[in-house]
Amino acid sequence: MQISKRILGIRPSMTLAVSAKAKAMKAAGIDVVGFGAGEPDFKTPAHICDAAVGAIRDGHHGYIVPSSGLADLKSAVAAYLKRTCGLSYEPAQVLIGCGGKHALYEAFLAALEPGDEAVLPAPYWVSYPEMIRLAGAREVIIEAGAGQGFKITPRQLAAAITPKTRLFVLNSPSNPTGVVYTRAELKALADVVAGTDIWVFSDEIYGELVYDGVDTCAFAAVRDGLYGQTVTFGGASKTWAMTGWRIGWAAGPGDFIQAMGNLQDQSTSNPTSISQYAAVAAVSGPTEPLAKMKAEFDRRRIYMVDRLNKMPGVRCVRPQGAFYAFPDVSATYERVLGKGARPPLSAAWSAAVLEKAQVAVVPGGAFGDDNCVRLSFATSMTQIEKGLDRLEKFLKG
Ligand SMILES: Cc1ncc(COP(=O)(O)O)c(C=O)c1O
Repeated sequence: MQISKRILGIRPSMTLAVSAKAKAMKAAGIDVVGFGAGEPDFKTPAHICDAAVGAIRDGHHGYIVPSSGLADLKSAVAAYLKRTCGLSYEPAQVLIGCGGKHALYEAFLAALEPGDEAVLPAPYWVSYPEMIRLAGAREVIIEAGAGQGFKITPRQLAAAITPKTRLFVLNSPSNPTGVVYTRAELKALADVVAGTDIWVFSDEIYGELVYDGVDTCAFAAVRDGLYGQTVTFGGASKTWAMTGWRIGWAAGPGDFIQAMGNLQDQSTSNPTSISQYAAVAAVSGPTEPLAKMKAEFDRRRIYMVDRLNKMPGVRCVRPQGAFYAFPDVSATYERVLGKGARPPLSAAWSAAVLEKAQVAVVPGGAFGDDNCVRLSFATSMTQIEKGLDRLEKFLKG
């Protein structure tokens, strides 16, 4: 029986082989240290869980109309974006999706026609290229390697734009690199696209996790005239340790948000009602739990980056956001893999480290940079110390 070309075209995840092997090793009783997690290792704060229990008890279990989100949550997200980012959105300009990933997917479908181009800086989050392709469009990659701090320049952006360009994807703080564009850098990029008919999809899902006091802001707020072409994405997953609750959002021009809502109407309907009530408590509630998580991530970040940079052949750009380090380990490829190893070398390297040092990392090739690997510091300090001890021993040996 037929499977559509659209679905057959989805590329298998390069991370799968390594994570499947790590799982199998763990199941066999081997003590693997996992740096693969893309989610906080904390519990969802108690006041959020209480709100969910309350919603169940109060009988908030019916369909939500419109399916694009609970009115109270749209208002709460609009107020949250105003308070934390200075962004001005009306509740009707907010869509609540089943996670940030779902909101992004709907937006790509709503913005792109077959044959369009979407400009995408690399390293990129794994799902963007696949979503662009599922919408029938083509990604145009701008390479921004470790040598340029994983940040694209305005000149690179201008050079990537063609008459077919419909969209520019920006993700700051970034998964996988953790880099954060400063306000001045965002302004310089905004100057390239402002006033054109190019959409900017600004994925700010890690926006609360910025360290070192970096002066940054939401893309739409960086200069005048951007609201009409910007869609701002966020979500509950990373900020409040709510990955499994599946709540994310998009905020943008009303007609575009309405178009995304029409798609949601005919596909998923509303995100889980209970999760939406919990998310109201998250975005409107006390900030102490977030501050605690952030302080702990920061402590681990400093420790991890410092240690990585002391390892032979490893160079790590300092992440200033999110919870990932993305070291360049390419100087060790020949020593670890021997001559003549075949690309993707980051995958072969990750497999070797898993097998010989029992440390699981994510190959950078999955994110469009085969010189690097991703380590998440969303795991305990004890595990971080143990894993880095093993990696160091392996690389020195
Ligand atoms: C850059 C980025 N955007 C969006 C998401 C989607 O997160 P969720 O669907 O859990 O809201 C993730 C999750 O890993 C991410 O790293």
